[in-house]
Amino acid sequence: MSERVAIVTGGASGIGAACAQRLSRDGFRVLVADVQEEAGHALAERIGGEFVRTDVAREEDVESLVNRAGPLDVFFANAGIFGALGPIEQTDTAEADRTIAVNLRGTLLCLKHAVRVMRPRASGSIIVTASPGGVVGGVGPHVYSATKAGVAGLVRAVAAEVRDYGIRVNSVVPGAIVSAMTAAVLAEDPADLETAARAMAPSPLVGRPGRPSDIAGAVSFLAGADSAFITGTELFADAGYTNAPGQASFAKGKFAAH
Ligand SMILES: NC(=O)c1ccc[n+]([C@@H]2O[C@H](COP(=O)([O-])OP(=O)(O)OC[C@H]3O[C@@H](n4cnc5c(N)ncnc54)[C@H](O)[C@@H]3O)[C@@H](O)[C@H]2O)c1
Repeated sequence: MSERVAIVTGGASGIGAACAQRLSRDGFRVLVADVQEEAGHALAERIGGEFVRTDVAREEDVESLVNRAGPLDVFFANAGIFGALGPIEQTDTAEADRTIAVNLRGTLLCLKHAVRVMRPRASGSIIVTASPGGVVGGVGPHVYSATKAGVAGLVRAVAAEVRDYGIRVNSVVPGAIVSAMTAAVLAEDPADLETAARAMAPSPLVGRPGRPSDIAGAVSFLAGADSAFITGTELFADAGYTNAPGQASFAKGKFAAH
């Protein structure tokens, strides 16, 4: 069998890095695509893959990344930023534009070029990183949340469009995960993962904060043949954060107020 090839954007750090390692263990040759060169090179070397400097907001970067990969089996469009923060009436329009460019236009460009090379081969799995912020209010900054709702819409629309080409498109929805992105906000230092972990309430289900490795199994499943019948859907890897957040006592059968 010929080698299977996967691209992971945002692959130098956090969820992307954990998934690049997992896909490599699954037998894929992995292209780590990121704007962070040092960390990207180091990871690619560790997993026997290749680093390709890529800004997903730039079409020429995404186009040449995909061309470099050759026959492509999996594209994990994972790069993202929190971007514009703060109250809506003070939104910095330039920061909002950049957030939309990376998270939404970047994902669109990844889908466009992944499908371009997958269609002639009549196969492929595209996975996009969405967010609980794109599903419910109050868990993410507003521009970020809008971009993640946008990528969920893209996944559904493009999945329907390319189903007849034999290409699947799904999203993974991570819950709160300890990473540089969350540490930058919670600890004001992207490297301070321990403070971020303490700041994140442990999940009631797993009794600890979410880690990037918690997302790798979901991505591995969507990448592989076991998910052959699954397209256009969202896989919530969030310990119930989005769809089962309730802790009401009456939901557990305790009806009296003690
Ligand atoms: N951490 C969480 O709680 C959480 C929850 C839901 C969704 N997500 C999503 O998961 C994805 C990964 O985030 P993470 O938590 O691993 O954060 P992270 O900061 O550790 O990793 C993000 C990576 O994306 C790269 N990146 C940023 N802009 C880029 C660009 N223009 N082109 C290419 N690469 C770029 C960064 O350099 C970094 O390596 C993001 O899409 C994020 O929105 C994260």
